[in-house]
Amino acid sequence: MMNIQPSSENQFGLPTNPVAMIWKRCCRWLALIAPLGLAASGWAGGEFRPGEVWLDTAGKPIQAHSAGILLVGKTYYWYGEDKTLGDFNKTGVSCYSSTDLYHWKHEGVVLPKQAVPPAFRDNGICERPKVIFNARTRKYVMWMHLDDSKYHVASAGIALGDQPTGPFVFQAALRPITDDFGYKENDPNRQKQLGGTYRDMNLFLDDDGKAYAIYSSEGNATMYVVRLNADFTGPETPTVPGKTWARVFIGKSREAPAPFKHQGRYYLITSACTGWAPNAASYAVAGNILGPWETKGNPCVGAEAEKTFRSQSTFVLPVAGKPGCFIFMADRWFKDKLEDSRYIWLPLILKPDGSFTLEWREKWDLSVFEMK
Ligand code: GAL
Repeated sequence: MMNIQPSSENQFGLPTNPVAMIWKRCCRWLALIAPLGLAASGWAGGEFRPGEVWLDTAGKPIQAHSAGILLVGKTYYWYGEDKTLGDFNKTGVSCYSSTDLYHWKHEGVVLPKQAVPPAFRDNGICERPKVIFNARTRKYVMWMHLDDSKYHVASAGIALGDQPTGPFVFQAALRPITDDFGYKENDPNRQKQLGGTYRDMNLFLDDDGKAYAIYSSEGNATMYVVRLNADFTGPETPTVPGKTWARVFIGKSREAPAPFKHQGRYYLITSACTGWAPNAASYAVAGNILGPWETKGNPCVGAEAEKTFRSQSTFVLPVAGKPGCFIFMADRWFKDKLEDSRYIWLPLILKPDGSFTLEWREKWDLSVFEMK
């Protein structure tokens, strides 16, 4: 075998044979360009390809639709609807873990369908699960939208876990706000009797430790922002409009809420209500999470901006250590093959004036935030 190591050097440290000379030059050249390469690739090791099939570390397509992400230490946990068996709650809520946001390990179905009451299994609905941590009770608290196949039961589901990977134990199904806003007696959603419907939802844990459920209510006409009790297992009681909860975007029919906060201002991205079909997103900003909210309009720009790049908002993840930098997460639903629906993740970078736009990218990585 040819020895390509520099075998001998003269008194000036220069190699005396031609192979060694080439080897040494290559090493020098590599030493020069390596730091450049590292700087250019930033948080190297992966990339996001919005809309493409995303495989987990076992090589299987990730099944975690309507995602919500929780950061615990340095590990991200991605929760979502496991739609392996199509629409409806035939599997449950899945969880994946990652330390780099690119590579995700399947942690299993952490709230299997058997864990929820029978009405919400199989032909029932379990959608938009989100998990936050309660520092007082040391519990991981999951809220979700539970329903029947006609979407008339429209209730919140609450489950608790001791670990981010569960198992989560089901606690209750309820409608957090029961005030009567003049509902009809024959309302199929039975809001007069049971309170305002609870459908597309999210959770938001504020810096002061208080948490909120944000959800489409009143038959999806109006969004509610409801402060949770100290354990995060229900609404703060007594529920007082304008104090512990608020009606927002009244009569505007918004859903798929994705909240985030920056420099004391609250942001909320929502979609219109067109089922699995995509529509234009809109965002609003508020100094107080209970409002008033100022609507700013569609943040998406470029081709297919009016359809949110054929997707629907689900979550906004703050980029750790990068104030003003977030990842916008959405679902590209394939209504005839829901299990094959895709994940759309795009960078969201706030401008100095607090506004932002969302642009389509075929592929990108976390180095986009290093420009910030
Ligand atoms: C959408 C909603 C989804 C799902 C779907 C059912 O409007 O955002 O989570 O409920 O309707 O048609």
